[in-house]
Amino acid sequence: MKIIVKKGDVLKQKTPCLVMGVFSGKMKSEQLTELDQQVVGAFGRAIFSKEFTGSKDELLLLHGGAETVAERILFVGLGKEADFSLRALRQITSSIAQYLAKRQMGSFQLALSQVSLKKSNLSERIQAMAEGLLLADYRYDRYLPKDKPGVPVALNQVSLLIPSGDNIAAAKKAVAAAESIVSGVCFARDLVNAPGNLKSPEYLAMQAVAMAEKSGIKVTLLDRRELERQGFGAMLGVAQGSEREPYLIVLEYRGGDETTQPIALVGKGVTFDSGGISLKPVEKMDEMKMDMGGAATVLGTMQAAAQLKLPVNLVAVIPAVENMPSGTAIRPGDILTSLSGKTIEVLNTDAEGRLILADALTYVGRYHPRVVIDLATLTGACIVALGNQAAAVLGNHDGLIRKLLKAGEKSGERFWQLPLWDEYAGLIKSDFADVKNTGGRAAGTITAAAFLQLFADQYTWAHLDIAGMAWAEQGKAGQPKGGTGFGVRALIEYLRGEEN
Ligand code: BES
Ligand code: MG
Ligand code: ZN
Repeated sequence: MKIIVKKGDVLKQKTPCLVMGVFSGKMKSEQLTELDQQVVGAFGRAIFSKEFTGSKDELLLLHGGAETVAERILFVGLGKEADFSLRALRQITSSIAQYLAKRQMGSFQLALSQVSLKKSNLSERIQAMAEGLLLADYRYDRYLPKDKPGVPVALNQVSLLIPSGDNIAAAKKAVAAAESIVSGVCFARDLVNAPGNLKSPEYLAMQAVAMAEKSGIKVTLLDRRELERQGFGAMLGVAQGSEREPYLIVLEYRGGDETTQPIALVGKGVTFDSGGISLKPVEKMDEMKMDMGGAATVLGTMQAAAQLKLPVNLVAVIPAVENMPSGTAIRPGDILTSLSGKTIEVLNTDAEGRLILADALTYVGRYHPRVVIDLATLTGACIVALGNQAAAVLGNHDGLIRKLLKAGEKSGERFWQLPLWDEYAGLIKSDFADVKNTGGRAAGTITAAAFLQLFADQYTWAHLDIAGMAWAEQGKAGQPKGGTGFGVRALIEYLRGEEN
């Protein structure tokens, strides 16, 4: 899809469809009166009959009369002006794109840039709209027939109309930024959506290598032999039940000052989580191909950061394994010696994410990171706590958590903080090892983080549990069912504030 920014009179656009935003409290203006004339009074009649009230997400598509310049006008309800936000703008733009694509209109013009939005500038609004369009254009259809009737068309060319006084160069830059960011999101979505038969740890590693080579990122793979040699006992413990080879994927992007320590991103890369010997129930086990969602988000973020040429130094570490039951799998009761030297009693082989992350968090220490952020589809308890509206954020540094919360709010990818008080660590004390890998039913997301903290406490560290966010059970505009790429946009927003 091509996104074009242009200045021009909303009333004089030659286009298959002009999209016009209307706040519920602002249904009368000179511009709307003229547009109403273009549709020979149909807009006014729709208001009169209360078919259109301007409330949020209302869409009214009208065909123009003889005098018209645009062939159609889509009036879009924006709700109350005071409630409108960048998040709402992004979502409404996705809804518009989906609505028109379903009606086979891949080209249209958006007159939404002029909507007033407190605490936002033109660049932010243009970025939000461009993201809304690009996210709505995503599908995972490589296993579907090509020309099924009734399928939405791919978007072709969308123009964003901006007022004549506005800075067109800034707007174009914002579109380019959105393109880089969403291409990272879509890369992550593709990885999450890939089925488990295709998606081995090796496949994930190869995708990372291909992306890195294309993006000018340094990439290193540690294979089983190397992991054994270095003592990745926790990660290898998880991997030993699968026929598929584990890999530690390490990426280094240098966009910042030579002397600045990197920010480290660590992503859980369980390409399929059957639970292992502590086997999961049948229902929804298919969704566990998404258990590398943290890894996907980290890879998408690295790609986007490189494409945006962000002036920061980044290192990404991804432990990639498959968690399977077999004659060689770890058993409940096994004790593993992690890379850090700490011993771990495995009470439940389904709590595998924290095992592989323990070693990855230890490993990243050799890069002397100034900040470590890990992302993981770590606990079902996180879905119980927050559902599908926010990821949990926990950590050992309030300043970092505050920055992440802010980036989440701004990008529309929400985080919510859970406490990590010392007392929780009491729940994962083991009688036979330094720590055990489950803390029982209470506070499952927190005890998982308390476990990770044992391996991250020498860093400024935050943990994002994205279990409820990496996969969308129900699709909506801008987010079809499946992998979401959740976190790429928020992390890029965070990294843009960390430039050095
Ligand atoms: N990958 C799962 C967590 C998960 C569940 C992610 C549902 C997304 C959706 C993780 O490996 C897991 O199985 N966690 C266990 C931990 C428990 C055994 C302490 C869980 O949450 O049940
Ligand atoms: Mg598990
Ligand atoms: Zn898992």
